Amino acid sequence: MNVLLLGSGGREHALAWKISQSKKLKRLFIAPGNAGTLNHGVNIPLRVTDFPAIREFTLSNTIDMVVVGPEDPLVMGIHDFFLGDEQLKKIPVIGPGKAGAQLEGSKDFSKRFMQRHSIPTAAYKSFTKETIEDGFAFLESMQPPYVLKADGLAAGKGVVIPSTLGEAKKCLSEMLMESRFGHAGNKVVIEQFLTGIELSVFVLCDGVSYVILPEAKDYKRVGEKDTGPNTGGMGAVSPVPFANKNFMQKVEQQVIIPTIEGLKKENILYKGFIFFGLINVNGAPYVIEYNCRMGDPETEVVMPRIKSDLLELFESIGKQSLSGMKLETDSRATATVMLVSGGYPDSYEKGKEISGSRESGESIFFHAGTKNVNGTILTDGGRVMAVTSYGETIKEALEKSYVSTEKIRFDKKYYRRDIGFDLL
Ligand code: AMP
Ligand code: GLY
Repeated sequence: MNVLLLGSGGREHALAWKISQSKKLKRLFIAPGNAGTLNHGVNIPLRVTDFPAIREFTLSNTIDMVVVGPEDPLVMGIHDFFLGDEQLKKIPVIGPGKAGAQLEGSKDFSKRFMQRHSIPTAAYKSFTKETIEDGFAFLESMQPPYVLKADGLAAGKGVVIPSTLGEAKKCLSEMLMESRFGHAGNKVVIEQFLTGIELSVFVLCDGVSYVILPEAKDYKRVGEKDTGPNTGGMGAVSPVPFANKNFMQKVEQQVIIPTIEGLKKENILYKGFIFFGLINVNGAPYVIEYNCRMGDPETEVVMPRIKSDLLELFESIGKQSLSGMKLETDSRATATVMLVSGGYPDSYEKGKEISGSRESGESIFFHAGTKNVNGTILTDGGRVMAVTSYGETIKEALEKSYVSTEKIRFDKKYYRRDIGFDLL
């Protein structure tokens, strides 16, 4: 099978690493990829949202399957683009169509979806410029802290949690009246603040059935002890100790099944990953958000725990035969520590030479923001490299990753030294 994988982050390197182990693979292309994906296939300089160029490439390289890493092309309708094209429509796309991707693309859509299907989530209301006064009144009726979410895609930065009423009103006003998050904030969801510990649960769905992948916990804040601004993710671990059999049964019964049945009832054909961002409130799972793709850096701990052939699973999504598949997983724990450019998630420099990334030893180095320029590997983003290790326990996996992080050197390297702190 010839496969085209779209994306360029640590998630895509981990997917490329896993796909390259498939006995079904003939050639793997990654668009645009990074310095790490080069070890598993051929990087192609295409933008993930340039559908005409992707069409050209797919046809001229006899691509048999397209795997979509990030949300942007999904929300923009790449799957529908393929289905609407005579020459492309038989090529399976792993990732939902535009309608299904709304679970991530619109917070308002996803909240209404959860209400329609009685899926546990925080109470909420949505507001626009026209109803801003009602928004202020709604805030006045709530207890702090306040949770305000830009409706549309905002690169993971569209959620603000002010702790005073004054700040919350100011935020609402900036979002609706001053386009603080651009178009994404034309509508704002205000919701009840939930207290608990978060985790990420993933399923692969073929439109009728699903398999549950290993769960993970990521660490979103830039600073140790979960302080400072939100990032894309500074590290992750799998499995999650509190996600025991009893809790996961609740997740499946109260969240996963109603979501998949809800999609079916609404005639939304969903073929791809569903990412459930959950919070455990006194033993009860609530949905904080849906994503229509895998998480990053969660993929860097989830893929290494999957023993099954990933392309076989993807193939059965295309054929809608996932119900017969059993997922084989590795019982070991995995942990990943993200090395980032100093200054991230605010401003940071790029183009720093990276040394030591070829000596991974006991760990796997998944590249994120890196590029290979004539054999030299340079930093090319805020999140630079995810250092993943296996262990009999999360603690052991983390210890190995922390030893390996020292091997990689670049100017202004930063990482959190306390990944997993709340679980150990
Ligand atoms: P989201 O982009 O929706 O995942 O939100 C980003 C982060 O904001 C989440 O990972 C949570 O830590 C936090 N958050 C979002 N919604 C809530 C909520 N209702 N209660 C508490 N924290 C929340
Ligand atoms: N790590 C969270 C995300 O991928 O959205």
